Amino acid sequence: MKYIKINLRYFGILLLFSLCTLAFGKTNVTSLVCEYHTNPVGIDVRQPRFSWQISTTESNVQQKAYEIRVAGSKEDLGKKSVLWSSGKVEGSQSVNVEYKGTLLKSMQRAYWQVRVWDNKNKATAWSQPAYWEMGLLESSSWTAKWIAMPKEDIAGQCLYLRKEFVASKSIQSARVYVTSLGLYQLFLNGKKVGNDLFTPGWTSFNKRLQYQTYDVTAMLGKKNAIGAILGEGWYKGRLAWEKNRDIYGKKKALLVQLVIHYTDGTSQTIVSDKDWKVSDGPILQASIYDGEIYDARLEKEGWLSAGFDDSKWTNALPIEHSKDMLVAPQGVPVKAIEEIKPIRIFTTPKGETVLDMGQNMVGWVRLKVSGKKGDQVTIKFAEVLDKAGNFYTDNLRSAKSTDIYILKGQGEETFEPHFTFHGFRYVKLEGFPGTPELRNVIGIVIHSDMKPTGTFSCSDSLINKLQKNIQWGQKGNFLDVPTDCPQRDERLGWTGDAQVFSMTAAYNFDVSAFYTKWLKDVAADQLPDGKVPHVIPDVLGGQGGSTAWGDVCVILPWTVYKVYGDKRILEVQYKSMKAWVEYMRERAGDDYFWTGGYHYGDWLAFASDRSDYPGATTDKELIANAYFYNTTRLVSKIASIIGQKADSEKYAQLADNVKKVFIHEYVTPSGRLVSETQTAYALAISFGLLPENQKGKVAELFAEDVVKMGHLTTGFVGTPLLCSSLSAIGRDDLAFKLLTRKEYPSWLYPVTQGATTIWERWDGQKPDGSFQSVSMNSFNHYAYGAIGEWLYNRVAGLNVDPNEPGYKHILFSPHVGGGLTNAKAEFQSVYGTVKSGWELKDKNFIYSVTIPANTTGTVTLPNADPEKILLNSLPLSQEMKKKLVATSNDVTLNLGSGTYQFSYSIK
Ligand code: BGC
Repeated sequence: MKYIKINLRYFGILLLFSLCTLAFGKTNVTSLVCEYHTNPVGIDVRQPRFSWQISTTESNVQQKAYEIRVAGSKEDLGKKSVLWSSGKVEGSQSVNVEYKGTLLKSMQRAYWQVRVWDNKNKATAWSQPAYWEMGLLESSSWTAKWIAMPKEDIAGQCLYLRKEFVASKSIQSARVYVTSLGLYQLFLNGKKVGNDLFTPGWTSFNKRLQYQTYDVTAMLGKKNAIGAILGEGWYKGRLAWEKNRDIYGKKKALLVQLVIHYTDGTSQTIVSDKDWKVSDGPILQASIYDGEIYDARLEKEGWLSAGFDDSKWTNALPIEHSKDMLVAPQGVPVKAIEEIKPIRIFTTPKGETVLDMGQNMVGWVRLKVSGKKGDQVTIKFAEVLDKAGNFYTDNLRSAKSTDIYILKGQGEETFEPHFTFHGFRYVKLEGFPGTPELRNVIGIVIHSDMKPTGTFSCSDSLINKLQKNIQWGQKGNFLDVPTDCPQRDERLGWTGDAQVFSMTAAYNFDVSAFYTKWLKDVAADQLPDGKVPHVIPDVLGGQGGSTAWGDVCVILPWTVYKVYGDKRILEVQYKSMKAWVEYMRERAGDDYFWTGGYHYGDWLAFASDRSDYPGATTDKELIANAYFYNTTRLVSKIASIIGQKADSEKYAQLADNVKKVFIHEYVTPSGRLVSETQTAYALAISFGLLPENQKGKVAELFAEDVVKMGHLTTGFVGTPLLCSSLSAIGRDDLAFKLLTRKEYPSWLYPVTQGATTIWERWDGQKPDGSFQSVSMNSFNHYAYGAIGEWLYNRVAGLNVDPNEPGYKHILFSPHVGGGLTNAKAEFQSVYGTVKSGWELKDKNFIYSVTIPANTTGTVTLPNADPEKILLNSLPLSQEMKKKLVATSNDVTLNLGSGTYQFSYSIK
């Protein structure tokens, strides 16, 4: 009997399993995201977009149709009372499919799921349900009041605010909506709400101020205490040059609305109002540039718990401040992502006690210390040691970047700052009671919580280190906005830096949401005449209009479109793009020639004192007109993508005219460029600014310059285009030479000097250990890291096709050179994992690619003979041979999804 039972059970499982495979095949729908987030809570995009991936064990899988259904609860999915059912929609779109159902109301949640049909007409099962939830959509939904300290704010000091309340019934769900003028940390019953840092984030505060939404259902009890700490942050702390402060306002304030839904259908709302209590506390100073001073003796024991006696605290003051600019976040929050242990502790020649984190990082340290009440530990931060091995902070300029902790004297105490961050590898401790050990310090790495999407590696360990440094540069400078540097008195959203690095950034991490958010501030801060400020958010009072910097408003949306297949971003940002082109057109006037204005030019390019090469100073107006052409042409293309036909034609015409003038002004009849620098050549070649008959000559002169110099001479503008334009003229050999050079100036020189991030200057620290000028010498500046794009798309050969964006169609084209024996890249696209990797064993070339489901790829095999190519160890089929295209060098094939390995001996 027992035997039969077991067998029956076995049979049942088997039957279920076979039914599953029959019904669902091996293909599933996974990775559901809404507006680039998994199950977002508190968004305000009325018609959010859905994306999904198809996971399959089969090859050549294409989606032929999809069906989405949306309901107010999981249970209602599949029932009649749905919010939307798309019906079966023919087509392969699986990325950014717009919700077309009933618009949701404030605080409403909806569940969605999707199923697809593949090219064999097989339907998958319905996916697991996912959800999204709206935030507070109208400013009238806010019944909370802005509250502040009645007294004037003391510069630097943080405020503590609190209130107690009773939740009397059984709780079904609870959400808190919160924001501040300044930075806030919110607590419920002693615990921090969410693990986001630097909330509400940095935006153009007076036009767009983000509020966050948190699900706090599990944090509530019967008797509750809600509390917040407020710091100055970007809103009113010291920022930009000199002693500049109070840029957005003079008073810190808090806005909180907590909505509790009870199981009996009733609800209760707790809001910030005059009943809240406010006090100062232990944080005596919190400044982004200068650091934090924390006096633990002033802690208010128990202030975050119900029952605390706050009778000595003052009542908060409700203040008038608009709520019209409140928006839900679209980006990614800053979080503590990683912890790093120091690798050594040592005494410098000057006698300083210093810890080495082994990595130039951004964040702070968690300090563990025991001592007497009133002992004071000073923590300083530096990126490098000087020539003699001493702690070096001159390059921080006026940023004090110092945390001070004053002990309360109660056993082992732990300190972490709240509203500051530092860029550092070395940590100096002063006044530490006793002898500090490695265990007293932990490095907390913070950055915007972008999903890592790309890896690149090859057979050269120095290039691998360069790649790591590029990624660290990105982590350290993607802190809610893309900043130039994280350490000195700057840390601003420099547009030029963001522009040149955007494609590299989009390989390394998922920057879709991060840029979507920042671009809204670009548009918000753009001036009425279309001028784009130098930094966004604009804290420099409207200074802007520099070529290659302002173009960020076109190039970044284009990057997001290319990499994530996001057409909406082109529509949303179109007005801003157009305004910038019109700004340039206005300046150029009737002769289509842009002269004058303020431009940064090829910022920080190599310069030398040699008489035969006085320095790579590229004519700034040449750069301006090259960008004027390129950006106008791009806007013409974008206009046609989004159906603005008349604009598209208008800008195509304008671009043509600019090109004619460019050639007239800058290309001599014999094929020389007026400014004979690598940057000028790279721009003319990359942007297609040369007459057909001059291309050969210009290419020759460009190559000659690189050979003559033996190294790069480019700055911020030329560097990202240098290797790709050498590739474009068929000189990968020279590009690899530049890439593998180890002496100054080169990408690898800093690596040989032990760099762990990308430096601002080619010679930030010279071979003799001395430094570049203190006025401009960051050791964590990602701009030169823009070479990363070429590593991915040329060396490993993994490239996006702008004609089928989002990696819907992938271009695979590896290039061997620089003595490398292998290189590989992996990328998590919106469709799934893309891989491209090669290996050279003697003359045998092995190349593997992975093409995700619902995409296709075109593979170009270098130096290949179709007859000798093996695919997965077998000769190419007759059918494949018929379809491939062979030139004297390369063989090109089109492939469906799947994993393929080619091998052949190189011609
Ligand atoms: C920043 C740059 C920026 C530049 C403008 C500097 O101070 O650090 O990275 O692009 O100014 O040229």
